[in-house]
Order: sequence, then C-alpha cells, then structure tokens
Amino acid sequence: MKKKIAPSILSADFARLGDEVQAVAAAGADYIHIDVMDGMFVPNITIGPLVVEAVKQVTTLPLDVHLMIEQPERYLEAFVQAGATILSVHPETCRHLQRTLRAIRELGAHPAVALNPATPLSTLDHVLDDVEMILLMTVNPGFGGQEFIPAMLPKIRKLKSLLTRAQKKIPIEVDGGIAISTIKKVAAAGADVFVAGSGIFKTPDYKKTIATMKRLIAA
Ligand code: DX5
Ligand code: ZN
Repeated sequence: MKKKIAPSILSADFARLGDEVQAVAAAGADYIHIDVMDGMFVPNITIGPLVVEAVKQVTTLPLDVHLMIEQPERYLEAFVQAGATILSVHPETCRHLQRTLRAIRELGAHPAVALNPATPLSTLDHVLDDVEMILLMTVNPGFGGQEFIPAMLPKIRKLKSLLTRAQKKIPIEVDGGIAISTIKKVAAAGADVFVAGSGIFKTPDYKKTIATMKRLIAA
C-alpha cells in the first residue's frame, strides 16, 4: 500500500490558509487533513463546512475530513457538499455506527472510522465491510501539538495483523504527535497514512520536512 502524508491544517496559519494549503501540496502532501471539532466531543471548537469549501477551492488534493463532533450524521451531507473526499467518524459519537458509515458511502464519500486511544479495536469487528480507512488516534483528540502515546504502537501492530488475517486491504491512518522524530517507528508498526499538524506546519521548510518523512517511512 502506498504510504501517504496528510498535513493537518489545524496547525497552519489560518490567516493565510489558502497559501498554507498550496504550500504543503507543492511540498508533496497526499491528502489535506481537516479537523472538525464541536466543543462537545472534544474540548476545542474549530471549523465547519464553510472552511472545507474554501480549502476545496485552492487544491485538487483529496480532503480528509476528521469529524470530532457529536451525532455526526447531522452534518454528513454538508461536508460532502463542501468537498470532503474522506469522512472519518468516531464510534464514540455515533449511536448507529454502521448506518452512519453507509450514509457516508451513499453520499459519495469514502467512510472511515476514527478510534480514540482508549477505544478497543473490537469496536471495528462488525463494520469492516463498511470502512475504507481506519484512523487510530495516537493522542486524545482536541488539540494539535500533543505528545505521541507510545502505547499506541502495539495497537497499530495488532490492527495491522488483524486486517492481514481478515484479508482486508484497509489503510491504517495515524493522527497525533506524528513528526520526523516519531514517524519511523509508527510506519514500522504498520501505519499507511500519516497525519501531521505541528510536525509539518511548525517546521520552517515544508518541502524538506515532507521529503524527510517520506524517506523515513519508505525505509
Ligand atoms: C487532534 C487532531 C489532529 C491534530 C494533530 O485532535 O485530530 O489531526 O491536528 O496535531 P499534531 O500533529 O500536532 O499532533
Ligand atoms: Zn485529525
């Protein structure tokens, strides 16, 4: 599976968002990761469909939209219309997870499930046919710039072997604390898609950072 880098705009300069998105795209990003927070499921409030629509205007990269909101089914259509390519939902926020995933697919987007660090992998047992990506949070969601939780490495390995055994080619995405200093061990554990906010946007040269990350995950 081709490894991918997904810069999270949460750590970008929002006053210059269009330029920031184009800069990481030119630097070799594969997806643009967009964090939607509602101040309920997570303690922070970020952005809604309007900003997704604005980002869509400035890039042709797929938009990887990570919904950290209660009852996400209320907003699926709005985010797909705004230009979301992938929509990740947390099972902790969905009363009927499989129905929500199916709704995402019916709207024409790619459904993904995001798991908090303490949420067990068994949550995925009965929805594997309905997901096209699995996002393992490697920090507790809510903020950029938090420290990677090392206990997530065995969780990534376990998911990887579970998917191999089930003969499912579903990419594993990791999100939180991913930077040049951590990306290699996360890749070795089996991750395929690497979200990085501060690990990219807080570095001086995006091109250099993403090139280094790609070299580290290819090794
Ligand atoms: C955290 C978000 C992340 C965040 C990661 O709740 O889901 O996507 O932007 O930030 P870093 O890469 O700085 O840990
Ligand atoms: Zn995220």
